[in-house]
Amino acid sequence: MRIVLTLAAVVVAVVLGVSLSLWVFGPQQGQQNASSGTLPSTGVAAIGGAFQLTDHTGRQVDDSILLGKPSLVYFGFTFCPDFCPTELSNMAAAADLASEQGLDIGLVFISIDPERDTPDVMAEYVEAFHERMIGLTGEVDQVAAAAKAYKVIYRKNRNPDSPDGYAMDHTTFLYAMDAQGQFLKHFTANTNPEEIVSALKGQS
Ligand code: NI
Repeated sequence: MRIVLTLAAVVVAVVLGVSLSLWVFGPQQGQQNASSGTLPSTGVAAIGGAFQLTDHTGRQVDDSILLGKPSLVYFGFTFCPDFCPTELSNMAAAADLASEQGLDIGLVFISIDPERDTPDVMAEYVEAFHERMIGLTGEVDQVAAAAKAYKVIYRKNRNPDSPDGYAMDHTTFLYAMDAQGQFLKHFTANTNPEEIVSALKGQS
């Protein structure tokens, strides 16, 4: 049942230069080589871009929801046993901390498991973390396009202990976007909420 962690050093030439990508592997995937997860180098502004998805209220939305205030964007899935809940809690804590300092931060959680994460499932999930968190899902190809824009890699992983017999492997970066919807920086899992808020200050 427990997820086995594999740290794979994936060298990425993104905006900030070389980054480490943290991969989560389930037991069925432990033998596979993560080198297939190498991200392409596409230069400046490589992270982020257009998407069309459905929010947790069933409304069709696009990337314009990121405009007007800095946002935190995270990709994952609601059945995730550990990484996603931890990171969404960090996001919520960062938003509350920012509010205390007079800064409004958008919180966006995008599912990479749209087959199970319907808008109703997303609604119940995001509301448990923060009243202002937006949950996004969509058609399989819409989610794939959004993930591609954000250089998020994911795949189904057969796991008999998981609901419906599968879990999802996925990259666990948390993205900070500015008030124009442009990529600012990324954080690896378990970044301190105070550090996140510091990075977003002055970006509204
Ligand atoms: Ni996860």
